[in-house]
Amino acid sequence: MAQLWGGRFTKETDKLVYNFNASISFDQKFFRQDIEGSIAHVKMLAKQKILSEIEKNQILSGLESILTDVENGKLTITEEYEDIHSFVEANLINRIGDAGKKLHTGRSRNDQVALDMKLYTRHEVIEINALLKCLLENILMIMEQNTETYMPGFTHLQKAQPITLAHHMGAYFEMFKRDRQRLDDIYNRMNYCPLGSGALAGTTYPLDRNYTAQLLDFDGPTLNSMDSVADRDYIIELLSALSTIMMHLSRFSEEIILWNSNEYHFVEIDDAYSTGSSIMPQKKNPDIAELVRGKTGRVYGALMSILTTMKGIPLAYNKDMQEDKELTFDAIDTVKGCVALFTGMLKTLKFNKDIMKTSAMKGFTNATDAADYLVNHGVPFRDAHRIIGSLVLYCIEKDKAIDALSLDELKAISPVFEQDIYEAVSLETCVNKRMTIGAPGPDAMKEVIQIYKKYVAIN
Ligand code: ARG
Repeated sequence: MAQLWGGRFTKETDKLVYNFNASISFDQKFFRQDIEGSIAHVKMLAKQKILSEIEKNQILSGLESILTDVENGKLTITEEYEDIHSFVEANLINRIGDAGKKLHTGRSRNDQVALDMKLYTRHEVIEINALLKCLLENILMIMEQNTETYMPGFTHLQKAQPITLAHHMGAYFEMFKRDRQRLDDIYNRMNYCPLGSGALAGTTYPLDRNYTAQLLDFDGPTLNSMDSVADRDYIIELLSALSTIMMHLSRFSEEIILWNSNEYHFVEIDDAYSTGSSIMPQKKNPDIAELVRGKTGRVYGALMSILTTMKGIPLAYNKDMQEDKELTFDAIDTVKGCVALFTGMLKTLKFNKDIMKTSAMKGFTNATDAADYLVNHGVPFRDAHRIIGSLVLYCIEKDKAIDALSLDELKAISPVFEQDIYEAVSLETCVNKRMTIGAPGPDAMKEVIQIYKKYVAIN
């Protein structure tokens, strides 16, 4: 049991207490960031003449050697230390002697851990953003190839109006684009350096916090030392954004699961992204989509967990906050895994375009357009709605589509119908006439695709 704070104590910590309190089993995940933060701190201390140049150089080479040795496996992080901060400091003192004991001058583990966590999550935000970009590029590719791939659009999971595959995919493009914007917002809001806040009340050393912030690529130092060590808002925001990403992935997964079912058969998931059954030889299951949908619960759980942990904590640092780590790490790893796998599944997904088109032609997805036809011929909309309602009822009885009826049958329901009704309610017309921006008409869609292409190129 190696601790940084034995001086005031007369007894050894109880072993169970030690284990309960220790965080090294998980905070070793940010050993790089811990060393990076210490390097910046030491450079600043030397610039301010709090450390000599010789001490600075000794400490820097000690820290760099620890980093290299951990990275190449020569030095193992073991649980005999309480946390990653103690591990690094103890190893530094082992390697360079007395100068190592000066590393923690003008610093507390409270501002140190606040920094480490920010550096770690900041890096992960960039990684998740890049994974989402790759997903967007794949969605965009599907959109470009499918501006005239017809399919039914649904409301209440009932066929509503015809759309195109490009249009359906575009909805997800919008969602994941917003997800990326949320990550950018979080990055910008969190990007202030807490180091130099000390335990809670700053320090009495003449630290140059601007310099430390600059060395670590922050937009500046945080402005209140109590808030700096007690703030976990950015983690809550991040977990909220990650939950939203998972919610989007889960909805998309759910659609793929439905579309992949025998009943829909709109898509075929690639063999590489499906699994079989141990008993039913015919099965090809959409396990990846189901797992992504399932893992959404874990990420929501992390958000609820940190919100609850933070709600009753008085200022400033309290040990409760150590609970921010495992759940955040788990949520980040879960989201990264899910986005990457989902992208692979989408990339290899086969669309059964004929089945989608046939499905769009059934279920009276052109009923609104038939009503619009009557309106365009002078019938008030409310009357047109009723007439088409009875037309649909007639079609259901005869088991026919609207455009499969003869003109005589149509005229028997409303004399306003003429030969051009067939053209007016054809699948192509129903989609192509929806030309306002945001609608599925291929021309409108192509305009949006150009906007998305620009977005992907510059973001
Ligand atoms: N392991 C601690 C955490 O993750 C580091 C800060 C410890 N500070 C303290 N005063 N005990 O929050």
